[in-house]
Amino acid sequence: MRIIGTGSVLPETTVTNDMLSQFLETDDEWISSRTGIKTRQVVTNESFEELSAKAVMAAVEDSNINLEDIDLFICSSTMSPYLTPAFSCVVSEILGLNCRCFDINAGCSGFISALEIANSYLKSDSATRVLILCAENMTRMVDWTDRSTCVLFGDGIGAVIVDAEDSFLSITSGRYDNGDSLVMKSPGGNSPFMPKDEDNHYLVMKGRDVFKKAIEAINHDLKKAVFESKVMIEKINHFLLHQANLRIIASAAKSLKVPIKKFRNNISNRGNTSSASVPILIDELNKSGLLKQGDIIAMAVFGAGFLSGASVFKWAK
Ligand code: COA
Repeated sequence: MRIIGTGSVLPETTVTNDMLSQFLETDDEWISSRTGIKTRQVVTNESFEELSAKAVMAAVEDSNINLEDIDLFICSSTMSPYLTPAFSCVVSEILGLNCRCFDINAGCSGFISALEIANSYLKSDSATRVLILCAENMTRMVDWTDRSTCVLFGDGIGAVIVDAEDSFLSITSGRYDNGDSLVMKSPGGNSPFMPKDEDNHYLVMKGRDVFKKAIEAINHDLKKAVFESKVMIEKINHFLLHQANLRIIASAAKSLKVPIKKFRNNISNRGNTSSASVPILIDELNKSGLLKQGDIIAMAVFGAGFLSGASVFKWAK
């Protein structure tokens, strides 16, 4: 598998930490020092599906292919405006794309899961070019009265297109630990046969627990992916971690004994965009010319489930 093109789209509205302190008991100092986040982009009156279609077209253009060349479309989404149909169907309808498509929900680690699925299709000759769209409308998911969660997230969309050339050196994923540290229950409906729905339908998070598990999972998965890639860790040019918290990134760098400057990040002005965070980061690095042909990239993701994964690949676009 090889990444042949990338695209990303962020909604237009920027929300600063100071804006949050207008309606929450919080401030820029607390948020910046605990998370590294300064601003995030949020959906207001835009159509999330139209933004997603734009991200796909940006990746198609970057790949120098035609939309019709895509024969499988996988969408990773924890939260989109639709429970059904699959968000990939909604975006396909806008684009006039008629290939097979389906959604996956592996929380913030969905990008790696989507890549693993794409890899299997490509390896078995069941697809030749796969579109992976990570579309995350996280601001629908959080409780905007809960200062311990809503300050962390932003909306965003990242897309990549992969083909069957050989540039992925390793890829691994798994369920790392129990899943009760990041939970959102779906609405219960009004079935007369069930007890009245009294659940909270916002994201509920055990922040410290997630923090600890994230560092353990990154360490475990990255070491495994690096070992299986047969690349010396010193030879890796860029480390791209799920953008959840700058302190998590710094702790991972320290325990892996890798200089922090190799850990690219955009969290200060994106916040946590769930599974879209790494593809958005890849697109930003790609478009700003920071990825050179032959560069070795290691990535690691983690999130609800508790799911996590990592991969080492060569930039060969
Ligand atoms: N502004 C001000 N104070 C806040 C606050 C905010 N936005 N959010 C929480 N606090 C308060 C808490 O109420 C607590 O107050 P108390 O001591 O009076 O009870 C205090 O700050 C410390 O809370 P604590 O949870 O210990 O802070 P922390 O240093 O662990 O940082 C997180 C909290 C959420 C930033 C951190 O745990 C984290 O980033 N965890 C990982 C979350 C994550 O990445 N989730 C997504 C994974 S995909």
